[in-house]
Amino acid sequence: TTDDPGDLRTPIVAVLGHVDHGKTSLLDKIRGSAVIEGEAGAITQHIGATAVPLDTVSEVAGSLVDPTEFDLPGLLFIDTPGHHSFSTLRSRGGALADIAILVVDVNDGFQPQTEEAVRILKDTGTPFVVAANKVDTTPGWNPNPDSPIQQTYEAQSDRARSDLDEALYELIGEMSDHGFSSDLYWRVQNFQKNVGVIPVSAETGEGVPDLLTVLMGLAQRYMKAEMEVDVAGPGAGTVLEVKDEQGFGKTVDVILYDGTVRSGDTVVVGAQNDPIVTEVRALLKPRELAEIRTEKRFDDVDSMQAAAGLKIAAPDLDDAMPGAPVRVVGDRSVEEVVAEVEAE
Ligand code: GTP
Ligand code: MG
Repeated sequence: TTDDPGDLRTPIVAVLGHVDHGKTSLLDKIRGSAVIEGEAGAITQHIGATAVPLDTVSEVAGSLVDPTEFDLPGLLFIDTPGHHSFSTLRSRGGALADIAILVVDVNDGFQPQTEEAVRILKDTGTPFVVAANKVDTTPGWNPNPDSPIQQTYEAQSDRARSDLDEALYELIGEMSDHGFSSDLYWRVQNFQKNVGVIPVSAETGEGVPDLLTVLMGLAQRYMKAEMEVDVAGPGAGTVLEVKDEQGFGKTVDVILYDGTVRSGDTVVVGAQNDPIVTEVRALLKPRELAEIRTEKRFDDVDSMQAAAGLKIAAPDLDDAMPGAPVRVVGDRSVEEVVAEVEAE
């Protein structure tokens, strides 16, 4: 492990899949909160972001993860909506991601937005794992809350296991129809050639330790070079939402995917018309494990480094546009950065 973990960027993990297949529930299980209960009609309508530090990853993963084997700071999860009308948000989430979780309801199998998500992952070349969710609904399932899935799976009755196997084989077949070779993750030797399928339940937490372990392993093994970026360099991010915040006026929720942003920095923000050039008045950091989409309490901090979800308060943000770039000017000229933002 390195002496200076501050030099490694947090990998961004997008959670994609068909509506109601359990993306938000899975994240709720990981962060130990219930965002889904606060959602209108329990349908996710915006991209969210939750930072999960390494110690929480190892806590949830239990014996499966040895935190001393990892030097990445944790994982930043991006929740996306599965409803068909939010296709832009799914592409945006997919484009931001270093790795992804494709969530599929085992009973439902591939559905239109599952297929759409697979196309996004293929087009962006994003490595991913499949979370075969809702295994607890298998008839006769004997749950083993929050446990690793392999033992639980092997301890089921023959009947329950063969029902689940049938659903899993169908899923693996559908993956194959889309050009991906996949298998149950404990049978996968090379995760660059085969996609790991992880049976999970967001309801009982079974398989969630495995999911986090496989993600951390993938990120650590195959993505570390990409995470060795200049995290002290000028920040770059994407606007998720433009919101009124009491005491701050208009603010932008941002996913910072590169570099650092500081209070007082001059930033350029993409807008409906000309890009906005403004100065960061406050950097608002959601609490650890909080979903930025629903968080009400923020810490006012001096600086933040990628990858992170944060809220930026600054003058003149009224026309800022969701999906548009945010760039810290740094040593460059304002004109150069404005041109860069206009070109995106
Ligand atoms: P969108 O954001 O609208 O695309 O949906 P989503 O994928 O985030 O699904 P969500 O987490 O909102 O879950 C949809 C429904 O499935 C909720 O009623 C959950 O309680 C239920 N659910 C999710 N995961 C599980 C699971 O593992 N087992 C069971 N039994 N129910 C689940
Ligand atoms: Mg959701």
